[in-house]
Amino acid sequence: MSRPPSFKALPKHIAVIMDGNGRWATARGLKRSDGHREGAVAIDKLMDSALSLGLQSVSLYAFSTENWKRPILEIRAIFDLLIEFIDSRLDSIHEKGIQIKHSGSRSKIPKSALASIDKAVAKTSKNRKLIVNFCLNYGSQDEILTAMNRLLEDRKMRGKPLDEKIKSKEFEKYLYTYPLSPVDLLIRTAGEERISNFLLWQIAYAEVYFTDTLWPDFGEVALWEALRSYEKRIRKFGGL
Ligand code: IPE
Ligand code: IPE
Ligand code: MG
Repeated sequence: MSRPPSFKALPKHIAVIMDGNGRWATARGLKRSDGHREGAVAIDKLMDSALSLGLQSVSLYAFSTENWKRPILEIRAIFDLLIEFIDSRLDSIHEKGIQIKHSGSRSKIPKSALASIDKAVAKTSKNRKLIVNFCLNYGSQDEILTAMNRLLEDRKMRGKPLDEKIKSKEFEKYLYTYPLSPVDLLIRTAGEERISNFLLWQIAYAEVYFTDTLWPDFGEVALWEALRSYEKRIRKFGGL
């Protein structure tokens, strides 16, 4: 790992739609699951690059609420790889000061995968160097509806009026990603230029960066290129 170059401005929170694992594998005559395995290696690299740059948080789209439409064998392979990824790296992740977070619905996630995630979240909860937020069984529309329902349930429990206007600060506390800051830079690999139900609320003012690089090929230099693009952006947030 080489020393990172310096940047005029760095995002606090990067979100990544890690796309292209399947195409990476198919192009090599390999199984799609081999692409996912190589994708996990790219996550390793990204975590180390983010640490050396001093970023605050990285959100990774690992499995969407729509990915259940895939063949069961591929789904199984993805969850098995996730368990292997977390279990084999947990000690080193912890030693590096990384905090693991999960965003997404717990329903439908296999029990064994939940156990690995919960263990990682509990073990690393006090770490402050970098937050790595695994978006797993994550869909932004599900997140927003779940947040709204939880908010109303909480109000009911506390005897607060249900028809009182909801303010964004109150609403945000119920998002899976709470208390992460809004996304500053959204990266999508593999050439597709769409959001695919990812962090719709949180990317309201994110800068967006698309690259043709397939996720397993996305290394440290590819991240630096995205950051070079980000540092040139003029962020106005609706002002002048
Ligand atoms: C992204 O890679 C990883 C997941 C959705 C789990 P894909 O599996 O979507 O790869 P492509 O888009 O088919 O190449
Ligand atoms: C988005 O990739 C989801 C993840 C990276 C986990 P997909 O490959 O599932 O998205 P679409 O179907 O091309 O929009
Ligand atoms: Mg894809």
